Amino acid sequence: MKTILVTGACGQIGTDLTGVLRRLHGENTVLATSGGRPPADSVLGTGPFDVLDVTDGEAVDRLVRRSHPDAIYHLAARLSAVGETDPQRAWLVNMGGLYNILEAARAHDVRQLFWPSSIAVFGPDTPRERTPQDTVMRPTTIYGVSKVAGELLCDYYVRRYGLDVRGVRYPGVISSEAPPGGGTTDYAVEMFHAALSSGRYTCFVREDTVLPMIYMPDCLKAALDLMAAESLALQHHNAFNLAAMRFSAGDLAQAITRHVPHFTCTFEPDERQAIADSWPRSLDDTAARREWGWRPDFDLPRMTADMLGRLRARRSTGPD
Ligand code: SER
Repeated sequence: MKTILVTGACGQIGTDLTGVLRRLHGENTVLATSGGRPPADSVLGTGPFDVLDVTDGEAVDRLVRRSHPDAIYHLAARLSAVGETDPQRAWLVNMGGLYNILEAARAHDVRQLFWPSSIAVFGPDTPRERTPQDTVMRPTTIYGVSKVAGELLCDYYVRRYGLDVRGVRYPGVISSEAPPGGGTTDYAVEMFHAALSSGRYTCFVREDTVLPMIYMPDCLKAALDLMAAESLALQHHNAFNLAAMRFSAGDLAQAITRHVPHFTCTFEPDERQAIADSWPRSLDDTAARREWGWRPDFDLPRMTADMLGRLRARRSTGPD
């Protein structure tokens, strides 16, 4: 029986991933942990849960020793926009947390570790269209800096200790379950909620801002498929570029308006615009496609219809 530890299990990806892992491997085999956000019923009510501050190395070591997981999905992190409000804390959580998890995994023979990187590793000097897998990485946010350093550290543990660390560079993630927490791409999720609640949204990036995005089912599929891939087929292990969709904030507003005709969106860029402008507009994910067969299922129209269907179903059964 495979046992799994998830950190950041109450975050945007963690909430959905914990549910899927519990359905796949059995409820009691997946230990969900969070250091900040309180657990939703979908996490707390379906299996074991512990509080874990990933910046506390001893606590991480104790928990990994006690639970002895076969695999860890380490998702706890501070995202790009909130990271800029307290860069010191962001570094501590993102890099300190990753280091503690890597060390515990090494010390207690954890078989596999999944750690997500992000499009935030790229910066204004990187080619912005079809951004290559291996290219210039000089980010301007502390989140991006911690993700670049994290990619290097993960590669080091693969080479130096033979730890099986795998990961992808997620684009902006769109999902209906848990909200994102302080990212630059959050507008893409907020727009859906606003369309259904007030019918109005003020978007914090320009209408022509194009960013790569991915819908949660594809986001989860990527993590699971990469973790299941034959090790010998992988040349990169970590930090695979993932392309799924790309659209402008204006395209998204129009796609939503097709389903919610009274929806109006205005655009008032704030400081997050500069972050968005430093990131790729599209990604070359040939390495992921070639090395482990990555293929997304959702494009903009399909994602929009599915998101609105899910959010409407939730609104009809309880408060949003
Ligand atoms: N969604 C993240 C952010 O906006 C990027 O990985 O910070």
